[in-house]
Amino acid sequence: MSTVAPESAHSFEVFTHYERLQWKVSDLDLDNIRRDLVQPSYIPLVKGVVMGEATSLPGLHGFLSEFDDDYDCSAFVAVWAYQELQHHYAFRAWLRGVDVHIDQAKIESLREPYEAGVTPSATLTTNVISEIIVNTVYRALSEWVEEPVLADLFLRASRDEAGHAREFLYYLKRRLETHPHELKSVLERIHFYVTSSRLNHPVGVYKHQRVEEMRGYETVDDVIDVFIQISPPDALDKLQAKLRRMLGTAVGHDLSRNAAIRHAMADLAG
Ligand SMILES: [Fe+2]
Ligand SMILES: [Fe+2]
Repeated sequence: MSTVAPESAHSFEVFTHYERLQWKVSDLDLDNIRRDLVQPSYIPLVKGVVMGEATSLPGLHGFLSEFDDDYDCSAFVAVWAYQELQHHYAFRAWLRGVDVHIDQAKIESLREPYEAGVTPSATLTTNVISEIIVNTVYRALSEWVEEPVLADLFLRASRDEAGHAREFLYYLKRRLETHPHELKSVLERIHFYVTSSRLNHPVGVYKHQRVEEMRGYETVDDVIDVFIQISPPDALDKLQAKLRRMLGTAVGHDLSRNAAIRHAMADLAG
């Protein structure tokens, strides 16, 4: 069953919008990296970022399988995946600029597609959460790192992630309009991420912590650790509040309190 009206092509609007905003790796001032401002801690941080960004390919694979009845959402995901691949290579280019190389075997180990979500709506929810987290984390890192080329790159990527969050929210909202029975799986996903006492990033939960080759190597969890270290004590609370707010609007429920989320889940189960 097709889920999209034939005249609807949100991805075309997104495509033209992104085309106007699109930057290039060659726009980065990689020949003028201020090596004197590169702190040793930046290297494992950026390696972890590369490993996180590198998982867009298994994400793309999973999405195209799960949304094989939705051309429009699939088209958006194709555009999204290109931008994520660009992030992967842009951060890798910065590392190369400071003579650090990524082990390609680690990248290859991440290629397998993600397992399908409980429902397609749950998959979209996971991606919304992922994008909101990286948008926030990259923004903070862009202000924290002193090396200007890396700071510029974090800011560019942060802006892209904000756009991705917005688009995945759009597709989540639309999916739930035609598949309301998937709401319970969405609330379960949200509950897991917003009630955790630590900041879990989906890439860590579903990929880095499961792939044997990543053991002992930098992962997205190292990036999150740096974010928590450099941020005020209420950073996790603020981020979780943002997730509740943005997702609450999309699913049409007040998610500001844990009890409200659990009640909504219980209502749906009954
Ligand atoms: Fe990204
Ligand atoms: Fe993104």
